[in-house]
Amino acid sequence: MAGEDSIVLGIDLGTTFSAMAHVNRWGKPEIIANSEGFPTTPSVIHFYDRESCVVGDEAVKMVVIDPDNVVRFIKRSMGEENFTLEFYGKSYTPQEISALILRKLKDDAEELTGETIRDAVVTVPAYFNSAQRGATAEAGQIAGLDVLSIINEPTAAAIAYGLDRIGGRRKLLVFDLGGGTFDVTVMEIRGTKLTTIASDGNAELGGKDWDDRLLNYVAERFYEKFHMDPRDDAAPYQELYERCLHAKISLSTKKRAVVPVNFRGQRMVVPVEREVFEDLTRDLVQQCEDTANIVLEKARLRWPDLDDVLLVGGSTRMPMIRELLVKLAGRDPAGNVNPDECVALGAALAGVFRHRPDHPALQSQRRQMQDRARALEETIAEEEAHAAEQPALHETDKGVSRNQGPKRAAIGLAYGGHVAQEALGQQQMSEDTYPPAEGELPDDAIEQETQPAFSPLGQAIDRRPDGQMWELPPVEIRDATTHPLGIIVLDKERKERVVELVPEATPLPHEYRGRFAYAYENMTAVRVEVTEGVGGTRDEVTVIGKVELTGLPPRPRGTPIEVIYSYGVDQILQVRVIDIETGKSREGVIRLLGSMSPEQVAEARQRTQRMAVD
Ligand SMILES: Nc1ncnc2c1ncn2[C@@H]1O[C@H](COP(=O)(O)OP(=O)(O)OP(=O)(O)O)[C@@H](O)[C@H]1O
Ligand SMILES: [Mg+2]
Repeated sequence: MAGEDSIVLGIDLGTTFSAMAHVNRWGKPEIIANSEGFPTTPSVIHFYDRESCVVGDEAVKMVVIDPDNVVRFIKRSMGEENFTLEFYGKSYTPQEISALILRKLKDDAEELTGETIRDAVVTVPAYFNSAQRGATAEAGQIAGLDVLSIINEPTAAAIAYGLDRIGGRRKLLVFDLGGGTFDVTVMEIRGTKLTTIASDGNAELGGKDWDDRLLNYVAERFYEKFHMDPRDDAAPYQELYERCLHAKISLSTKKRAVVPVNFRGQRMVVPVEREVFEDLTRDLVQQCEDTANIVLEKARLRWPDLDDVLLVGGSTRMPMIRELLVKLAGRDPAGNVNPDECVALGAALAGVFRHRPDHPALQSQRRQMQDRARALEETIAEEEAHAAEQPALHETDKGVSRNQGPKRAAIGLAYGGHVAQEALGQQQMSEDTYPPAEGELPDDAIEQETQPAFSPLGQAIDRRPDGQMWELPPVEIRDATTHPLGIIVLDKERKERVVELVPEATPLPHEYRGRFAYAYENMTAVRVEVTEGVGGTRDEVTVIGKVELTGLPPRPRGTPIEVIYSYGVDQILQVRVIDIETGKSREGVIRLLGSMSPEQVAEARQRTQRMAVD
């Protein structure tokens, strides 16, 4: 068992850049630089041969020289089924590739801190689905880490930002546009509780799409002149990509940039005005705007209701994104947020709040907090009494997750594609099992509002000037699901349909229990198909996994069967199917499609551990 002050590494495993942080023994969250001395590490890998690779800046240098042995943007393939890449005759799953990035981070962190690191909290985009989350956890295991939990990137950013604002009541919108993914999340800080109210996004929208637009534009200008396409060959393509990437970054501060193109002996310099770039990407910005509005609608809020807007992710440095948020929110986004570091810092903090409740930095204030917390709750209750006529904040506040589940009666499933129909009319209620802790207020919360005890986003100082520890308020993180879960059943007409069991925005952790029935006489096996996504038919949703129970004694039609969906705080799903009347529980634990078995993970771990990662 790890000691209370042993490191939990907070890892932001990004599409283009990764970062890591920890909460030091004085209670101060800080970024851990990589062995090259940088706070972020490019998520790029170059394979030298079958047994060795390099991760980070050195790998980026190889993109143009040896493009066939370089891999980047692997995060976009996480959770994909049957996806492998081959280098020097050895094939790698996305989990294994990501594990090599994590290995580099872990090794560098151990070198810098001088400690052996096992425990980690890894972040994922809020909009990642179960398979993508599962794959991320597997990557951690393969890298030799104990992934204590997975946390959503916007939530992590909000923790880092919100730490100085704990104690009050604020609503924030986190707008996170990174290299490959996009999330918008509305959160509420209330006392020491940080609750996700609504979320939406696109796991395939990010800076890379802006890069691609620019690259296509430049390649087309070149083609018009020389009737040759620099996208046709790997090395020139990579070279052009790098140049467009740099031009894009220049265009964030300058009105004009140039992209030199050099292909098959022909040269050309393509000028790009910022306005042209903005025209090329207008629809992408529109997607961002639409998503942000959808999230506010889901949260039942209007833009003026927000207290803060946080810009997270490197792509929010583009003026077009900042301008969009100023236009929508009618105010400037919060300052003092380092979009590259706040996710990793928040992950490190979450590691302490969730997994090191006895960390010394959390201890000293505990005793004095109760009175303050009570006072705060009273103030909020008074405020709420005054605001009683106003529309409700959000469904989760009313306990939507309690007693959820289909209103309709349960339905059974048959093995081999036959699905059952019988309605039992007895629906066990799902339960919000999160411990009901009330908001707690740190001792010096009032002072923190105006004069932060420390800034998690600012300069690292090991100890407070008075030689004491930085004291962390015990933040309670309450995340929520981002995709609804369902089950495929037969209705009374024996037509297949999807019944939603766990709605979107259900507070985590969560357990759904429902009773279904065998559809036919003498069934000896049953299959439960778990769906993710919105829709009533198989085509509209994704079947993310199956659980099969076989070898049952012949079951009469209508015999009850229990289905349990359990979501941990990291939104990774466990499913159990229990044949109730056999007395003993027969259980099948879901294997997510695209996921690896424990044996495969162990084997992959051995394989990658043998590899030298520089
Ligand atoms: N000044 C800038 N102007 C425009 N884009 C920028 C700037 N700085 C960084 N970016 C872009 O930000 C992206 C990287 O941001 P970040 O590190 O937050 O993403 P990530 O964590 O790798 O990705 P994700 O969170 O989507 O998995 C890249 O696409 C990069 O080109
Ligand atoms: Mg990111």
